[in-house]
Amino acid sequence: MHVELYERLWMWIAAALIAVFLGVIVTTAAAGAIQPPSHIETVDPTTLTAHPEFGDPKVVTNADGSVTASVVAATFSFTPDPIEVPAGKRVTFRLTSSDVLHGLQVVGTNVNAMAVPGYVSQFTYTFPKPGEYLITCHEFCGLFHHTMVGKLIVTEAP
Ligand code: CUA
Repeated sequence: MHVELYERLWMWIAAALIAVFLGVIVTTAAAGAIQPPSHIETVDPTTLTAHPEFGDPKVVTNADGSVTASVVAATFSFTPDPIEVPAGKRVTFRLTSSDVLHGLQVVGTNVNAMAVPGYVSQFTYTFPKPGEYLITCHEFCGLFHHTMVGKLIVTEAP
């Protein structure tokens, strides 16, 4: 079969790129560099129920008026549910999973993170005004992944 020179060239370039990308994935996985992008903080997912923070995940108001929302994702729900946070205040989400990989997306905002068992994923967001948001899991986590939803209620700032 005759393949044009340029076509052959591009096939080799594409194959080389695939090899490079796969190599990057395999190398980073082998080097243990797979963790949430925020920072490296580990928790033991098997003893999460006894953990001082994630054993009873909730929204805590800090001295400066900002809030910290600790959230645990587990098949097939989020805790706490609903998550209640004040409008106009900085919300620091601290998210982990007690079993498999999940995702947390607050629909209609750019709050979107992966819940990785063994790691804490941290990010901040300020909801400008009161309202209700849908939270969905965006990583396929099992048979009832599609039912894994939660609610986020933004209340009038106190
Ligand atoms: Cu949890 Cu999909």
